[in-house]
Amino acid sequence: MGKPSEDATAPTRIASGRGQLIDPSSLVHLAIGTFATTDLQATRRLLENFLGMECVDYAAGRMMARDRRAKFLMERGDPAFFVLDAIEIPKILRPQAMLNHWGFSVASEAEVDRIREIAVRQAVDFDLKRILPTTGMHGSYGFYMIDKQDNWWEIEFRKGVTNDLYFSRGDWNAEGRDSFPVANPPLALAATSAAVVGDEAFLTHGTMALGDADASRTFYEDILRLRTVRHVPPALVTAGAGDFGVVGLSFGAKKIQDQLPENRFVILVDGDDAVADLRARVQDVTETYGLLSVSDVQADEVAGASFVLRTADRIWFEISSRPRQRVIELFEQPSRH
Ligand SMILES: [Fe+2]
Repeated sequence: MGKPSEDATAPTRIASGRGQLIDPSSLVHLAIGTFATTDLQATRRLLENFLGMECVDYAAGRMMARDRRAKFLMERGDPAFFVLDAIEIPKILRPQAMLNHWGFSVASEAEVDRIREIAVRQAVDFDLKRILPTTGMHGSYGFYMIDKQDNWWEIEFRKGVTNDLYFSRGDWNAEGRDSFPVANPPLALAATSAAVVGDEAFLTHGTMALGDADASRTFYEDILRLRTVRHVPPALVTAGAGDFGVVGLSFGAKKIQDQLPENRFVILVDGDDAVADLRARVQDVTETYGLLSVSDVQADEVAGASFVLRTADRIWFEISSRPRQRVIELFEQPSRH
């Protein structure tokens, strides 16, 4: 996994993407990605039995799923996890596209081929409607599979490259990037039940389509307080304090898939005041960044304060003060299903 740092424990400093090491507490926590399904049972079979995740039904029509990296982080009390949150709805109104996929890292090219063969053979069992051919783009080797809910899943061998290595190396055209400090610790995983993917598989990234990666970059950095890096010209990877990233790809506004709030990224902040502060910052720049909407703050006794915003690229973000401990505790209960 890349070049490990000398300290194998959680990093006290992480790479900013701009050639510096920074304190992760200066960033928000990109914590949850939501997606829609018409069949939670089928989605659960895919996530658990194929992708090696653990799922918990936590409310009517809602299921949270953690991969092995999130499980490891939760079990050691590290709050920088990323989990998926499936929302059951009667009908998929916005089928997802290639630029809205969830990506899993696996151990080798042979492993990619092995997993793909199983996906093809057991497509019906796992509710898959299409399995694309393998490709070797952007230094990784992998394939996409599309489930019957029109969610896209990527299985790829990343050749040891982690998101933190991208952030450490800085922009593809940054001056002096070879001398940037590297913070790229190995990513330890917990074990989950046997699945189609091997024990080394984990969720590394989500994806979003951008009209113009340069135009949105400072919104992510200065307003939302995420870190960003442009490791290849069309891409903008963004992450919070954790090692999970969202890869934004800029192929022009026409390639953008319209989204509904069921497909959103959730940023967790500490306390209702932090939600209000962030909303004020967002509200101030609505015109500057062409934001399509910014909701009022909603208060919920269980879920905390939250608001949602929609970027110029039609991407939904929720900012919430839902306590991270509550998310962790969901996975400590015996699953209700
Ligand atoms: Fe990907």
